[in-house]
Amino acid sequence: MDPLAERRLRSVLEHLLGPESNRSVRSSPTSEAYEDVVQVPGDFAKKSLLSSRSQYEQLYEEAVTNPDGFWGRVAAGYFWQKLWDTSKPVCNYNFDADKGRVFVEWFKGGFTNVCYNALDRHVLAGYGHELCFLWEGNDPGQSAQLTYSDVLKKVCQVANFLRSKNVKKGDRVCIYMSMILELPIAMLACARLGVIHSVVFAGFSSESLAGRILDCQAKVLLTCAAGRRGNKLLPLKDIVDHALEICLRDGNLRVETCLVYENSFALPRQKVSWVEGRDIWWQETVSRFSVDCPVEWMEAEDPLFMLYTSGSTGKPKGLIHSVGGYMVYAGFTFKHVFDHQRGDIFWCTADCGWITGHTYVTYGPLLNRATCVIFEGVPTFPDAGRWWEIVDKYQVSILYAAPTAIRTLAAQGDEIVRKYSRKSLRLLGSVGEPISPKTWRWYYEVCGESRCPVIDTWWQTETGACMISPLPGAWPMKPGCATLPFFGVQTVVLDQEGKELHGPCEGYLCIKGAWPGIARTVYGDHSRYENTYFKIWKGLYSTGDGCRRDADGFIWITGRVDDVLNVSGHRISTGEVEGALVSHPHCTEAAVVGYDHDVKGQGIYAFVTLSHEATPSDALKKQLRDIVRKQIGAFAAPEVIHWAVSLPRTRSGKIMRRILRKIAARQYTDIGDTSSLADPSVVEDLIKGM
Ligand code: WT7
Repeated sequence: MDPLAERRLRSVLEHLLGPESNRSVRSSPTSEAYEDVVQVPGDFAKKSLLSSRSQYEQLYEEAVTNPDGFWGRVAAGYFWQKLWDTSKPVCNYNFDADKGRVFVEWFKGGFTNVCYNALDRHVLAGYGHELCFLWEGNDPGQSAQLTYSDVLKKVCQVANFLRSKNVKKGDRVCIYMSMILELPIAMLACARLGVIHSVVFAGFSSESLAGRILDCQAKVLLTCAAGRRGNKLLPLKDIVDHALEICLRDGNLRVETCLVYENSFALPRQKVSWVEGRDIWWQETVSRFSVDCPVEWMEAEDPLFMLYTSGSTGKPKGLIHSVGGYMVYAGFTFKHVFDHQRGDIFWCTADCGWITGHTYVTYGPLLNRATCVIFEGVPTFPDAGRWWEIVDKYQVSILYAAPTAIRTLAAQGDEIVRKYSRKSLRLLGSVGEPISPKTWRWYYEVCGESRCPVIDTWWQTETGACMISPLPGAWPMKPGCATLPFFGVQTVVLDQEGKELHGPCEGYLCIKGAWPGIARTVYGDHSRYENTYFKIWKGLYSTGDGCRRDADGFIWITGRVDDVLNVSGHRISTGEVEGALVSHPHCTEAAVVGYDHDVKGQGIYAFVTLSHEATPSDALKKQLRDIVRKQIGAFAAPEVIHWAVSLPRTRSGKIMRRILRKIAARQYTDIGDTSSLADPSVVEDLIKGM
């Protein structure tokens, strides 16, 4: 672009989009960042499970070269009703689609049960009186606690109820609940029976919920009357009713039973809509069932649960995790990544609707007999001191949270944090999106008073549990860096051509070889699993993320290289948002990109072309946002809607998102080469059209 045009572009954009200062500062790590090393605080290192990098390297090496020995030993820490076939390799897999079906198997032939290992095993060993869950409600002052025996009894009752509804091993049960104790209890009840649970995050709309219910053909739906988050009431039962109506219209509904937990503090019973014959009140029914329920012994490769996640195209994928591999990997990563020790109080702030809540609210901690805090509310209600109040109240020692929440709190200043003691804390974790060195520093210095290591953990719904993270105590940290792979995880960095890079480099992050926690398939669509993860780079698992590797071999995640957005740690498909927008009768075309957002990490920026009869207006923008809210959920509604006359396309018709991203980021001096556009004037029109 010539300098004159560039200047014109800049002034138009300045005018229309406001001053530079409104813009986000999230940026890729610089070479200075690579040098910024923070040693593990001495007091922590003295007591940590691992204490040196060489100790890690030895174990890492063993996990790669002798998986039978290494993972066999780890798995032997659990109860197996029948041991896996130890005459065969502990793991068998094929990542190369050219050589046949892609598959992964761990502990084949072994029989176990994840619920048994998470609960019965501890109770039978005499630890039933130990605290399992400490629940803190949305409103301060509301709390509850359950021991391991309590949880086991409640889990058995729900399992017996499901059994009474003829729900059997391999059937699917959908869970749509807010963060009350019954949510992990419901998950464990399914696991006990070998029933595949599909937890749908309670922020998803009725249409999204309906899509997921239909896709997995769920038999039973578990929900609650309403949810509370800060001042907001989430009318969960209404959303469920609407979702089931949509399924009914589709003609494919299998849900015969809807079990509704009555949380009268959220919504009084008489205000809850009811469908006779289908809906059942949780408390009055479930309590009638026995607190003993036999366990269904599951083959290691049987599915444990499914969880939907978004990719760049198409419908969300229902990823399937397996019983044996997931159990071993979730439990083992929990212990080492969080340096979990007896006496710790662990708090993962994630919702069970996401993989983090599966692995580090429910399964990982319970497999280690940890005591966990579960919080129903939000970090800023009733004020921004809530997290620290909870930390002091329950004497939390390990806090695991998302950068988006940390940024929200950082914006409120240090004073409110300092009002609370926080002396119980000894480790801080971050997950879900890149944490900038600045946010990392705030978390480390202000929240943890430079006493607690910060672990930046990188992983995905697909990976089941942590993949790259500091093992606290074993090596120094670098602010904003996920550092080194977990035991046995073979990270590979590729260039544009797919050539493996060595030493310090930047490129696509892939994984060589199978780890126990990898998802085994996409529910009902194995070829989608193969195509999405294994055919981009032959023989490797493709993560969809880019990374840099520095001179110390540390990995810095630079973000998605595909069209997946990460908004407040929620993974959102650009294609899905575009699909929702174009379903509006006046929207002919839509292209969605992300832009840096101070608090959310990424914000959603939608370029929309309208049909001839439509006139751009704020009312229309609202309608477009509403349609996304309705079809996906409020968290996916675009912040910015940009009226476009047309979209920049290559001669072959492909939308050039690179250019749209530049415009969304106001990097108009840096639009780059536009010569491959079918019509380069589109870029200027775009700017005029705002
Ligand atoms: C995507 C996966 C990890 C469980 C929750 C999210 C991004 C995740 C980090 C991190 C930078 C991160 C990646 C990844 N991501 N953790 N520590 N640093 N980016 O699971 O919803 O499946 O999202 O989240 O882009 O691919 P998910």
